[in-house]
Amino acid sequence: MSAGPDALPPDGPSSDGPGAQQPPPIEVRGLVKRYGDLTAVAGVDLTVDAGDVYGYLGPNGAGKTTSLRMMLGLIRPTAGMVRLFGRDPLEGVQALQGVAGFVEAPTFYPYLTGRRNLELLAAFDGAQAGTRIDASLETVELSDRARDRVGGYSHGMRQRLGIAAALLRDPKLLLLDEPATGLDPAGMRDMRLLIRRLADQGITVLLSSHLLTEVEEVCNRVAIVRAGAIVYEGEIAELQRGAGTTYRLSTTDDERALAVCRAQPAISDVRSEHGWISFSADTSAVAGLSQALVEAGALISQLAPQTVTLEHLFFSLTEGAGAGVGGEAPAPAPGQGPEQPAPAPRAEAAEPTR
Ligand SMILES: Nc1ncnc2c1ncn2[C@@H]1O[C@H](COP(=O)(O)OP(=O)(O)O)[C@@H](O)[C@H]1O
Ligand SMILES: [Mg+2]
Repeated sequence: MSAGPDALPPDGPSSDGPGAQQPPPIEVRGLVKRYGDLTAVAGVDLTVDAGDVYGYLGPNGAGKTTSLRMMLGLIRPTAGMVRLFGRDPLEGVQALQGVAGFVEAPTFYPYLTGRRNLELLAAFDGAQAGTRIDASLETVELSDRARDRVGGYSHGMRQRLGIAAALLRDPKLLLLDEPATGLDPAGMRDMRLLIRRLADQGITVLLSSHLLTEVEEVCNRVAIVRAGAIVYEGEIAELQRGAGTTYRLSTTDDERALAVCRAQPAISDVRSEHGWISFSADTSAVAGLSQALVEAGALISQLAPQTVTLEHLFFSLTEGAGAGVGGEAPAPAPGQGPEQPAPAPRAEAAEPTR
């Protein structure tokens, strides 16, 4: 399911004329980045097709920013390859034609106005870029504030100015690293609407996030990364279908019931939480379970089916045992759970790679 119109010919130098098969906006194969003993990215494969709004999703420390840095040619992979419209981003400026984005946070001169910042950036992007300033500001809804100093902008306004800066390059592909992280709910909604507008203009978007709720409305495809490796890749709709049904159970003897549930072959994801036993199962398996519980002397007092939320599925994919990469990948440091805000942008790491 491609979100956008199927007509999205990247008009880079690799265009081979009408009818030719165009290389996809992003192709990543076997991508690895190691820092000493630490494997930040542990063999990522993904393809982003024209028109996709692709969510690159995972908890803090999963390797999202590192992956995006490699996709943008900012750092060299330890192994593997990246192709943007068929070109290697490490080949330089020419390879990044039609591509824009930022990692961690866009940086601006705080004492200059939003417009002046864009004028300075446009000067690097050639004659055409300057003519796009007004339209870019309009798209991100900053026209009214363009004459104010960036130092007085809210976080959301700065993120939107970062996207305006990217739009100066008239991109066919935008890579955005956690564009909505740290925004309040209204700011997040505005960001979702903005990304939708960009997609409707025919721009292919890859955005990273540590919040599933942030991407589920706006993305058609997602890759879920955990400890540098992809644990799910596919359509959001498919993920929702796979979410299946869980049950909540309470009995006269929950300790025994827990053991019975765990012993049932057709019952999975058994856990005890908040005074309930929860598990995943087909309806047919539930009938067998109820009999087994009676036989074990744990009588059912409550049994309720619940639709698994995507959020729950996301946590089980990114926090459950056994789904990640090998032992060399680090466990997230304490305090790096998905509920935590992203680390503060590091000045040297916040290249405005537009
Ligand atoms: N320049 C670096 N040197 C050493 N370790 C790094 C560097 N950049 C990232 N890492 C580590 O790689 C892992 C992935 O980081 P990152 O890509 O920033 O994750 P995310 O963006 O998903 O939060 C983390 O453990 C992080 O500490
Ligand atoms: Mg990051």
